[in-house]
Amino acid sequence: MTRRILVTSALPYANGPIHIGHLVEYIQTDIWVRFQKLRGHDVVYFCADDTHGTAIMMRARQEGRSEEDLIAEMSKAHQRDFAGFDVDFTHYGSTHSEENRELCAEIWGALRAADMIVEKEVTQLYDPEAGMFLADRFVKGTCPICKAPDQYGDNCEKCNATYSPVDLIDPVSTLTQTKPEVRTARHLFVRLEKMHEFLEQWTQEDDHLQPEVANYLLGHFLKEPLRDWDISRPAPYFGFEIPDSPGNYWYVWFDAPIGYMASTQQWCKKTGRDFSLYWRNEETEIHHFIGKDITYFHTLFWPAMLKVARFNLPRKVHVHGFLTVGGEKMSKRKGTYITAETYLKHLDPSYLRYYYASKLGPRQDDLDLNLEEFATKIDADLVGKVVNLASRSAKFAVELGLSNRYPEDGGLFDHAAQAGEAIADAYESCDYNRAMRLILELADAANRYVENAAPWKLAKDPDARASLQDVCTVALNLFRQIAIYLAPVLPRMARQTEKLLGVPIEAWSDAGRPVLGIPVAPFQRMLSRVDRKEIEKMIEDSRETESAGSDAQYNDSDQPLRDEPLAEEITIDDFAKVDLRVARVVAAEDVPEARKLLKITLSLGGEERRTVFAGIKQAYQPEDLIGRLVILCANLAPRKMRFGVSEGMILASGSGGREVYLLHPDEGAQPGQRVH
Ligand code: MSP
Ligand code: ZN
Repeated sequence: MTRRILVTSALPYANGPIHIGHLVEYIQTDIWVRFQKLRGHDVVYFCADDTHGTAIMMRARQEGRSEEDLIAEMSKAHQRDFAGFDVDFTHYGSTHSEENRELCAEIWGALRAADMIVEKEVTQLYDPEAGMFLADRFVKGTCPICKAPDQYGDNCEKCNATYSPVDLIDPVSTLTQTKPEVRTARHLFVRLEKMHEFLEQWTQEDDHLQPEVANYLLGHFLKEPLRDWDISRPAPYFGFEIPDSPGNYWYVWFDAPIGYMASTQQWCKKTGRDFSLYWRNEETEIHHFIGKDITYFHTLFWPAMLKVARFNLPRKVHVHGFLTVGGEKMSKRKGTYITAETYLKHLDPSYLRYYYASKLGPRQDDLDLNLEEFATKIDADLVGKVVNLASRSAKFAVELGLSNRYPEDGGLFDHAAQAGEAIADAYESCDYNRAMRLILELADAANRYVENAAPWKLAKDPDARASLQDVCTVALNLFRQIAIYLAPVLPRMARQTEKLLGVPIEAWSDAGRPVLGIPVAPFQRMLSRVDRKEIEKMIEDSRETESAGSDAQYNDSDQPLRDEPLAEEITIDDFAKVDLRVARVVAAEDVPEARKLLKITLSLGGEERRTVFAGIKQAYQPEDLIGRLVILCANLAPRKMRFGVSEGMILASGSGGREVYLLHPDEGAQPGQRVH
């Protein structure tokens, strides 16, 4: 049965370039789309630039040009980058389009009609000089909790506290460096709680979400009333003015997901298709691919809006994790904030497509780009096992062509044909890692065959022409099966294989029938080994000396939804179970075999000593720690590690790597004292 499938990737912000973190998502989605097409389904793949919001407006102002001018330029750059990585959209639109404005108005009308909109006063900081209310990220000041200076308006990077910008001490607008004032304005809110019951059901049933995503929503947001969602922003704001609330604009996260529909609509107009077939027809499957940071918007707000306005609900929202490079967040300073453009100047896009495929599983785990492993994997798997299979036999086959009958191969072709369904299942469930492993097993078997048959020996024997032709026929057919199974990941290799054998690859089922009695074209190099020097150059090109920009990419969400949610509530008795003690570092040494660990000896007063292994190597020098007071969780069960037993845990905040901040009491606290 042919399925009609509409697929989307999240709409990238128009205020920055595409980088290798984004590409996790666009490559993941593109692979899925190509796979479904190869299976014969009717698939469309839509995306667009997410153009609205304060960030774009400010940047346009700074650069002295119109927002329209800026977003046109970004859209071109984004589309160029995606094409460079073979990400093949059916249509790439923009949220700043008439189609989007109309659809927003339609959904807005439905929300009004369902009595889902309320008006409330919001108190915010206002910059009189810039003439605008300040989003949290445009205010800096002293943290009201720990008094650390120079903190953003929504949370403190020193003590991790979250607060309202109105509470900041000595706030300063980052736009004008002046002191903002407190003002109130009327905002419009969506009463999401009205959809609580629906959302509780929709998020939990029919495999709409990965199980861990469904559980997360149930355990965090859905266990209490859903907060009203602030959906409007007062002028000036780059976006759409709300038709029945002049001077107010839809918040960017209202019109962004509607951009999925608008992009569909633009394509329908262009090609004479029927929009309602895609968004108002239950038989169409809608699949959204997103990163875990925007789960809330896509699994709560978005289905609620669609439900109220009677559009199709998503068949599935696929959530992926975040990319780290060398185990850490991408960093401009370290040259690991690599843009798509820079990557393409140095390396083949097929490498990254294959590497991500080999790393992506069905869950929302983060994935790490380890450049060492990247190079080894490409060389060993793709060049050594896959391409080599073709190159070793193709050169002998040029003169001979392929045999007319498929030779005896010990069942290899049939086995690989049958493996097709298991590989397809793995692609279908986004378990690309498993798909790649299954395919590589086929390549291993095929290579063993070629080793044994040794065509290079047969080629020296003029009487063995027929055997040589048979061996090449087997090897090239086994290669072709692999190229078909890899086609969603490596479309270029599929095209090269078509050229080599002169037969198109059009369907997954092509892997079930050998090609016979045809000429073979001269072999042309398909993929080279990874040039390590180019990796180094790419890192150098990406490195930004000085603090030219912060590592954290600014995003336009000025609601603190992306933060780690609070853990489950506990009682004071629960808390009292955790025995925290003041401790003094008496010795600290490196654990050379461990990437992150330092071995630390602590005094708890008197003779009492503790040894703790702490993952803080990237942030602290051992010698700087000696003599310092820290806080130890002293009643944690001892944990056996590779390098010894860790007897407790030293408290620190931060996300890991260099981003680690030890907690330490003021001098005067006594080692051994309990911390309450
Ligand atoms: N504009 C919003 C999405 C609106 S969808 C209606 C947005 N844009 S974004 O440019 O910040 O991110 C686009 C997508 O890329 C998101 O799904 C995001 O999770 C993903 N990624 C951005 N950085 C990423 C990594 N470092 N790693 C993996 N995915 C990442 O959010
Ligand atoms: Zn603080």
